[in-house]
Amino acid sequence: MNKRKILVTSALPYANGDIHLGHLMEAIQTDIWVRLQKLQGHDCIWVCADDAHGTAIMLSAETQDITPEELIDRVNRQHQQDFADFLIGFDNFYTTHSEENRVFSESMYQTMDANGHIQRRSIRQLFDPEKNLFLADRYIVGTCPKCHAERQYGDNCEACGSTYNPSELISPRSAISGAVPIEKESEHLFFDLPIFKDMLKVWTRSGALQDQVANKLSEWLDQDLQQWDISRDAPYFGFEIPNAPGKYFYVWVDAPIGYMASFKNYCDREGLDFDSYWLPDSDTELYHFIGKDIINFHTLFWPAVLTSSGYRTPTAVFAHGFLTVDGTKMSKSRGTFVNARTYLDHLDPEYLRYYLAAKLSSGIDDLDLNLEDFALRVNADLVGKVINIASRCAGFIHKGFDGMLAENPDNPDLLFEIQSIKAQVTEHFDSREYGKAIRLIMAQADKANQYINEKEPWVLAKADKQAAELHAICSTGINAFRLLLCYLKPVLPALTEKAEAFLNIDPLVWKDIDFLLTKHRINKFQPLITRVEPDKIKAMINATRMHSEPPISLEAKSHFKTEIPFEDFAKIDMRIARIIEAKHVEGADKLLCLKLDLGQDSEGQPILRQVFSGIKSAYQPDDLLGKLTVVVANLQARKMKFGISEGMILAAGQGEKDIWLLEPDSGATPGLRVT
Ligand code: 2FM
Ligand code: ZN
Repeated sequence: MNKRKILVTSALPYANGDIHLGHLMEAIQTDIWVRLQKLQGHDCIWVCADDAHGTAIMLSAETQDITPEELIDRVNRQHQQDFADFLIGFDNFYTTHSEENRVFSESMYQTMDANGHIQRRSIRQLFDPEKNLFLADRYIVGTCPKCHAERQYGDNCEACGSTYNPSELISPRSAISGAVPIEKESEHLFFDLPIFKDMLKVWTRSGALQDQVANKLSEWLDQDLQQWDISRDAPYFGFEIPNAPGKYFYVWVDAPIGYMASFKNYCDREGLDFDSYWLPDSDTELYHFIGKDIINFHTLFWPAVLTSSGYRTPTAVFAHGFLTVDGTKMSKSRGTFVNARTYLDHLDPEYLRYYLAAKLSSGIDDLDLNLEDFALRVNADLVGKVINIASRCAGFIHKGFDGMLAENPDNPDLLFEIQSIKAQVTEHFDSREYGKAIRLIMAQADKANQYINEKEPWVLAKADKQAAELHAICSTGINAFRLLLCYLKPVLPALTEKAEAFLNIDPLVWKDIDFLLTKHRINKFQPLITRVEPDKIKAMINATRMHSEPPISLEAKSHFKTEIPFEDFAKIDMRIARIIEAKHVEGADKLLCLKLDLGQDSEGQPILRQVFSGIKSAYQPDDLLGKLTVVVANLQARKMKFGISEGMILAAGQGEKDIWLLEPDSGATPGLRVT
């Protein structure tokens, strides 16, 4: 076999948010591909990292009153744990805020500059005079110049869809401080992308891209390319640009360089030669798995930057579509913006791995996670088809034959047929047509089950539990199971590991598909996976809804409180609640933590909420027990410094000691709607 040397990357998640199902789709797609290569015996290394720089991370750390370094360290640990629990087998997961990355970013920039590919010129931009920082478009809000919708972001209007310049916004404000921005000039550094137009025209048609992507790019490449602004002014969390004090690399410069840095970190640890992977004329393969939203960064800027700085270009960039849930964009309020951890609290990671594999293709179309179909499909295929084969045969092998498989299977043709799809399955996995691979595998699982149905080993066992035919039939079944599991190993590594223990075999590799298991003692069958319970899916969605953070509202509210139409007011669901627990909050001057009883839901289950309320000046916790209050019951849960607040209680008064709730005996009962 020709042993390939392959380096794989997947997109770097930002270091200020949780891993969610969208990230997982890409990680799972990449993981399956990498596992396939490894099972085939190729040298395949997969590196990733957190994308740790930029304004958003700087501001997020500031809001949390910690340093950016503390934030990215904490998030990095969480990300690694989440991925590991989804059986994502990175060879290295690093951070872009690393010494290796600083060294590469600086040296590549210096080469680009020495090659004459960096330009300098001043530009005018909006600037927040209170925070003393330049404002990227998404940090400016104002009224749309076209349709006059309020609170639109700096470059496009969500109401009418028009795009514009931030300076065209009516009454622009900084979304960070609420201040009125001023225009200010500063020098920026630009990468001279247009110089690379011809090189990009050749590279994008070299087979490195999916057809859809190459076609899109050729449209772009037929137009004029713009120089790429690669610098940002301080304050910025990132790497300062050499010989340009106060200027930092834009996060999208050092993010892909982070692939190299993570790999370098791996090479240093494992004693591997970095240059043989990254210098031109390398005989290794380099693949980037990415989402379709970041195609331009990976197929225009990145190959040009690599070329400009003296490195090789990628062998291919594999873009995928977005993940939708139940047909629409993942949504916090619908509870479908599910975080990795919330999923893991309720469901087995291999359910998701299997479902996504069954639906993934090599294109850039979106993939829908239909929650009802998810349960049906996983149960039907994994539990009903694959595991069923083993569970129907293993018992007889133990009862009649002391766990030993027969020397000759009863139906070698069936097993041969399963073996003979190997080339096609390999090809489908290798070309990221996982859905096609799964369909082939499941068609064989159907055949194996049909065979067992026809042979009815349970009938034979009743007559003679040591019958040779029974032995050969069940040994055929166990062999079919082993072959199917081997095919599924890239998708279901944990299930396969349990199956290997049951089969009493060494870890399966791809070439094991060519062999059968005969005269071999297997272990007692243990259930390998349980059915997906729809209630658990519901619980996961509810938990997501309850714990969803609000979209970070960077708006300075005091500047923007405007009249609201009646329809908006009508959306507020106010209910009577009884305070059933109240406690002090350590470190908080004004807050008490309340537990509220809001009556019962339609199934008679109590509705309890935790709410933080700034009424400490007027009440001791004990004074509040049993008191009634009005609560805004449909306010999105908010993550506060001290925990999650799931609503807002309404009180009246001047403040301090003068804050009034309802009287206990006002006749209201928990859950009652306030009208
Ligand atoms: O879009 C994103 O989530 C980026 N953090 C991806 C970076 S991928 C690479 F280029 F670094
Ligand atoms: Zn508009």
